[in-house]
Amino acid sequence: MDWFRYENGELFCEAVPVRKIVSRYGSPVYVYSRSSLRDRYQQLERAFREVRPLICYSVKANSNLAVLDTLKGLGSGFDVVSAGEIYRVQRIGADPRKVVYASVGKREEDMEMALNWGILMFNVESSAELELLSRVASRLRKRARVAIRVNPDVDARTHDYITTAKKENKFGVDLYTAEQIFSNPKRYPWVEIVGIHVHIGSQIVDTSPYATALDKVEKFIKGLGPKARSLKYLNIGGGLGIRYKDEDPDSAEVFASRIIPYVKRLGLKMVMEPGRFIAGNSGIFVCRVIYVKRTPAKNFVVVDGAMNDLIRPSLYKAYHRIWPVVERTSETMTCDVVGPVCESGDFFAKDRQIPQVDSRDLLAVFSAGAYGFVMASNYNSRPRPAEVMVEGDRFSLVRRRETFKDLIRGERLFR
Ligand SMILES: Cc1ncc(COP(=O)(O)O)c(C=O)c1O
Repeated sequence: MDWFRYENGELFCEAVPVRKIVSRYGSPVYVYSRSSLRDRYQQLERAFREVRPLICYSVKANSNLAVLDTLKGLGSGFDVVSAGEIYRVQRIGADPRKVVYASVGKREEDMEMALNWGILMFNVESSAELELLSRVASRLRKRARVAIRVNPDVDARTHDYITTAKKENKFGVDLYTAEQIFSNPKRYPWVEIVGIHVHIGSQIVDTSPYATALDKVEKFIKGLGPKARSLKYLNIGGGLGIRYKDEDPDSAEVFASRIIPYVKRLGLKMVMEPGRFIAGNSGIFVCRVIYVKRTPAKNFVVVDGAMNDLIRPSLYKAYHRIWPVVERTSETMTCDVVGPVCESGDFFAKDRQIPQVDSRDLLAVFSAGAYGFVMASNYNSRPRPAEVMVEGDRFSLVRRRETFKDLIRGERLFR
């Protein structure tokens, strides 16, 4: 089901006209469909039901409390990558025994916070981290459960910035080092190695890179022999891709049919960390045309949203479908859709054909629910946009638009 759809030329989120949301809360604004979040989570739950995985939604994709709370209500756990994300999931009353914590750079105080809260496990990314974690755990007299994040050196065939399991990437430990860790458990006396974690990248649209990685992981675990006795969990990370343009990503069922056999053969409890799959197409970004600037070279549709609000096009040259919220004409124009920020990299689309638009028209930028607001900044001293959540015919502000006061919060003059 598409939770964002046009009815008589007007865009709706569930049963609410998007125009109505903008008249209440202004633009630019992120709009999330609660039913879509649920639907996507449940697609995974259904597809993998045979092995009843622990689904730990990846908070980094969209960390709004209302999004986290919606997923918690479905039984979701959480994948966090910072103390700030731990704070967020604590605030919604998440169950610490459903929280996993990855990051190549966890500081002592971050580890303490997670240990004191009693999270399910740390996804450990180096021997140095393991040593530090063991020391911190010993000081607190709390055993740390960990999964070793292995880097199986596979190409996820996605954008360079979001591939994470090639040997030149900073993530995880190579299989040789992982084997050394399993061979010397006494070096980490306060650590209990309960899992293997592998996350190969993001926006992966077909299952074969997973199979390549899991082949290596299975061989690795089998090669450990009795040293693998303590293992209880296989965490396959996140990465399932979505449609932004014309991709045809494998469905949750196809992913499940490829992954489940490994889980069953290894006899481990499966954990997964989907982010984009759940949030990506559950949100749009809406902005208003300020003016249309025509030059001899190009038409620029200048909007009130910018790269500071949604950076994916600038950062990854990511494609987002853009369409008027209200379709007024079938005449089209070719244009760059750009924001007001002082960077040539500030664009949402280049040489895009869209229906003719004019000042004050609203544009929807689709597939903006993941890695959208979470990457927003105040660059050019632009207050960050509002976020609104819709369910059926109800909608509610889930983060107010920032004010000028928010821009300078915490700043002091030099005296
Ligand atoms: C360790 C880990 N798990 C899960 C995810 C979520 O990935 P995705 O949003 O592609 O599902 C990421 C994303 O970077 C990650 O680094």
